[in-house]
Parts: sequence; C-alpha cells; structure tokens
Amino acid sequence: MAAAAPEVAVETEGAVGIVAINRPAALNALSISVMDALLEALGGFDRDPAIRAMVLAGLPRAFAAGADIGEMKHIADSKGADKALSLHLARWDKIALLKKPVVAAVSGFALGGGCELAMACDLIVASETAVFGQPEVQIGVMAGAGGTQRLTKIIGQALSMEMNLTGRRLTAREALSFGLVNRVVPVESYLVEAKKLAQLIAAQPPLAVQAAKASVRAAVDLKSSEGLAFERRLFFSLFDTRDQKEGMKAFAEKRKPVWSGQ
Ligand code: CAA
Repeated sequence: MAAAAPEVAVETEGAVGIVAINRPAALNALSISVMDALLEALGGFDRDPAIRAMVLAGLPRAFAAGADIGEMKHIADSKGADKALSLHLARWDKIALLKKPVVAAVSGFALGGGCELAMACDLIVASETAVFGQPEVQIGVMAGAGGTQRLTKIIGQALSMEMNLTGRRLTAREALSFGLVNRVVPVESYLVEAKKLAQLIAAQPPLAVQAAKASVRAAVDLKSSEGLAFERRLFFSLFDTRDQKEGMKAFAEKRKPVWSGQ
C-alpha cells in the first residue's frame, strides 16, 4: 500500500499492517493532516481482509508530543474551538472504534494527544525511554481526546488527577506498574516487539479476536450487567463461525487449528 501522506509511512508484514508517524521536526505533533492520514491508513487496513492486526508507531524520540499546538493557538473562543476541533478530536474516537486490534509502539514522548492516541489503541508496547503525560494544563487548557476519561479508567483517579492537574509524566516502568502499557522493552527492539505481539494476535481466529476486542472495550463503556449481556451475545455469535467448528474439532483431535477467518 502506498503511503497515505508524506508524514505517515505505511507497510505490511504478512497479515499485520504497520502505520508510522514520521514528522520529526515537530516531534510527531498530531496535525489534522497527520490524523487524517493515520485514519485513512488504519481504516484501509481495518477493511482489508488480508490484514488481521495493526501496529501504530511513532519515532524513537517521540510517539507524538500532542495535538498540533500551532493549529490551536489562534482559536479565539469556545465557539471557534468547537468549529475548528470537534471533527479533529473525533479522529481519536474513530481509531478506538476500529474493529481489528491495534498495537501502539511507543518510544519517547507520548504527551497530550499522543498519550491519548496510544490509549485509543488496544495494547501498548513501550520502549524504556517512553514518557506518558497529559501536560495540557501547562498550556492553559486540559485534555480533549480522552486524557481525563480513558486515562482515569485505566490508571485510576488519584494518579490521573495528578497527571491532568500538574502535568506529571510517567516513565515507561511507572506506566507498566499502573497498567497503562503491556510491556517495556529496550528502545532498539520496541518496534520489533510490537510487531511480534501483532503477529501473535494475527495468528488467532480473526472473528473471535474482533469479538473479544469489542467485548473488552464494552467493559469500559457499559455498566456491568449490560457488558455481561453484550459479552454473552458475542460469545454465542461465534458459534456461527467455521473457526469455532475448526478450533473445537482441532482441540478434540489434538492438532493445530487452521483458521479460515470465516
Ligand atoms: N505541537 C506543535 N509543535 C510541537 C509540539 C506540539 N504538540 N510539541 C513539540 N513541537 C515542536 C516544537 O515547537 C519544536 O519546533 P521548533 O523546532 O520549530 O521550535 C519541535 O517540536 C521540538 O520541540 P522542543 O524544542 O520543544 O523539544 P524539547 O525536547 O525541548 O521538548 C517537549 C520536548 C517536552 C515534548 C516539548 O516540545 C513540549 O512540551 N511539547 C508540547 C507538549 C504538549 O503540551 N502537548 C499537548 C498538546 S495539546 C493536546 O494534545 C490537546 C489534546 O488533548 C488533543
């Protein structure tokens, strides 16, 4: 697949689609054009039957240092903010709503919209140099793309308050201990490890993977009884798939299943 825009590189490795932000001069700040290109590339992979999992990467120095402050500094008032930024901020939610799993490969700064972008993904592989934060308060605003919501649900109120009210940053090791990331690896291997994790997911039956992703997401958004009912419906729906027949037959026959994705 061709690159969606010069600031976003796109490639595939087997059934894994890899999208990388490449805007080093602005520490990968998430301008409208960068976010558009990300959505185009990730959305394309989400619709491509040959792709089963995705990796969203940044650069070793910065996953992304936030939404592009240059695009916000001239906004005069709340009406102007609504007009200029509503569609932009909805792009983070669109990434969270992709059907196929996305592994964020995070190294260096993951601040503001960058931290929010990593959290919109499903799993995070962090390099030892990764730093996570919601520093918007330090430029006179607050998080606007999930930094008070997703972050609080993941790490809890006490630490989320501290990060959102003071700009405190988390090191990669702290992020691991608070459940924000899946693993921390040396900077030389964070991208490779993120791809390995995506390959591992891509090797599972895709319809079951997508149902499980939707169900885990529902745990965050729905109240418990609704979440359990949603999970039950998705669980039952997988009994309409060939992969369920194959998976259970292969288990009984003590062999490796062959997934058809149907
Ligand atoms: N938007 C636009 N440009 C940015 C940027 C951003 N979020 N972050 C960094 N840059 C640019 C800098 O302006 C600078 O450009 P110039 O060389 O042209 O001046 C370049 O990237 C390098 O940055 P620094 O010189 O500042 O590098 P540093 O190593 O001294 O500091 C940093 C790194 C601590 C990440 C610092 O750049 C910084 O604090 N960035 C802003 C972080 C931030 O506030 N993010 C939140 C943005 S608002 C938001 O995201 C809202 C939301 O919820 C969606």
